[in-house]
Amino acid sequence: MKVAVLYGGVSGEREVSLTSGKGMIEALKERGHDVVAIDFHPERAHELLTLEADVVLSALHGKYGEDGRVQSLLEMANLPYTGSGVLASALAMDKARAKIIFAAAGIRVARDVLVESPAHVDAKVAEWGGEFPCVVKPAQEGSSNGLTIAMDETMLRDGIAKAFECDTAVLVEQYIKGRELTVPVIGNFGHEEALPVIEIIPKNEFYDYESKYTEGGSVHVCPAELPEALTEEVQRSAVLAHQALGCAGYSRSDFLVSEDGLAYILETNTLPGMTPLSLFPDSARAVGISYGELLERFISLALE
Ligand code: DAL
Ligand code: MG
Repeated sequence: MKVAVLYGGVSGEREVSLTSGKGMIEALKERGHDVVAIDFHPERAHELLTLEADVVLSALHGKYGEDGRVQSLLEMANLPYTGSGVLASALAMDKARAKIIFAAAGIRVARDVLVESPAHVDAKVAEWGGEFPCVVKPAQEGSSNGLTIAMDETMLRDGIAKAFECDTAVLVEQYIKGRELTVPVIGNFGHEEALPVIEIIPKNEFYDYESKYTEGGSVHVCPAELPEALTEEVQRSAVLAHQALGCAGYSRSDFLVSEDGLAYILETNTLPGMTPLSLFPDSARAVGISYGELLERFISLALE
């Protein structure tokens, strides 16, 4: 099959995407596919409109790749592609708006305040109401880029300023101290299933960029050792989140479980990391699906 792999890109997660893409390209070649690898830059967008491929696999993360923009080009080019479509991709990328959908679907979310302009900082800091620590993050970034855990108002204001350097909106969120879980979901509408839950135990205090992408930076426990009811709850919530956003093919939802045992959804990743250290392939391996087989599943779901 002629498979195009989009990777790299121009988001803050470019390096992660290059690694995800290399993993995919290698595995697809090993399986005998004819692979075209494209380091995607917006100025090369027109090339996608004339691309010839049986299917397109995206290893792009973040802005321009995971947020519906590339998906819309592929729609216009009439090319089948793996993963979610335009609307779900755009919604999932916007953490604040995704949380509104999650809450409407009955999934627990942390309290937040969205700062949509540097001119609103004073009003939004007042609205936040002085609960510390709190988490400050760009509304549309990934991999913990631009994220601050603020211990006081000065750190909150500095964190908002830092997050505005890489985004046009900033989310201030309740800090949930507890265990970090992630749940991959695979399948198209009506046939989605959750894969085993992974617990992430970072070496650093939280699961930051370094813990995510340095070998030995975190330990993945899969399947996570959790009470059965909690495993069922987060798996059900991950499927619900995937459906509520209108995702297709696959996604991976991240959760925090507070010390009193309540699971909060953080976000749904429509193009989760596929590097050799990544969570989704790890969880699939736990049920006997190799990395290459996982890619074949993504392709079959895109062609359904
Ligand atoms: N945003 C990164 C790639 C992930 O969630 O895996
Ligand atoms: Mg993410």
